[in-house]
Amino acid sequence: MHAHKTYIVTGAASGIGAETARILKEAGATVIGVDRNEAAQVDVFHLADLGDPASVEKLIEALPREVNGLANIAGVPPTAPAETVMRVNLTGLIHLTEGLIPKLADGASIVNLASLAGFDWQSEVAQVKRALSLRLEDDIETFCAQEGLNASEARSYFLSKQALIVWTLQKRWAWRNRNINMNAVSPGPVETPILKDFLETLGERAEEDMKVMDRPGTPQDIAPIVAFALSDDAKWLRGANLTVDGGMSSHILTEKFGL
Ligand code: NAI
Repeated sequence: MHAHKTYIVTGAASGIGAETARILKEAGATVIGVDRNEAAQVDVFHLADLGDPASVEKLIEALPREVNGLANIAGVPPTAPAETVMRVNLTGLIHLTEGLIPKLADGASIVNLASLAGFDWQSEVAQVKRALSLRLEDDIETFCAQEGLNASEARSYFLSKQALIVWTLQKRWAWRNRNINMNAVSPGPVETPILKDFLETLGERAEEDMKVMDRPGTPQDIAPIVAFALSDDAKWLRGANLTVDGGMSSHILTEKFGL
């Protein structure tokens, strides 16, 4: 499925990104890893800070042409400052993706690692639209202050992921003439180095969630879904948000509607 393909995987140094890189390589692909920390299991590595405009521009310039897919997996947890969360999880990701579109091969696939935290975007459409009007080079610190994102640490994370899901929906047909599709994958809690940050920030709410789950996910639960969404078998999957959460989003919906 992935033989003779080349993919860019951001966040390749740890967790879900590292596992995605590993299984893509195992399936015969060439993997170009991007991270702010050195990534071991990749063919080529680019060090970059995906929240920094100059670093993202340099990266776009350095990455090769005719790549078959981009997995936007790098992300920071809610314990990071709001500005960093908005930069890395949203505006940097969008800047990188839009900058790479002209260089990608026709038929390429893009996968955005969103989150169960973004599932309820319908309740926050106005703020999501404001977030999506931001550019990486904008004064994001002021935006965060205006939106009160610093006051509630988790809100920046939820907003970044809600906006990422909405951006994915909006771009369903953006590059259809080149057969480039983009989808989101939204995990529930996954055992990686940042899980403890989520639990810390979300407090009781997270504890309640963890009680109804049989277990948290692992990178091995998520990476195969990312790999599938990158593959040619998923070409008619466009603008979708694939929830991979052990049933949590179904649970939320059945509770909400008394089903
Ligand atoms: P992780 O901490 O193991 O991996 C994140 C990677 O992103 C790290 O290698 C880190 O160095 C890299 N990164 C962070 N900031 C960066 C920057 N400015 N520039 C370049 N690289 C940067 O965490 P995990 O869990 O594998 O996270 C991957 C994605 O999955 C993130 O987008 C996260 O929001 C999302 N996610 C994670 C969940 C979880 O429970 N672990 C649940 C839902 C979504």
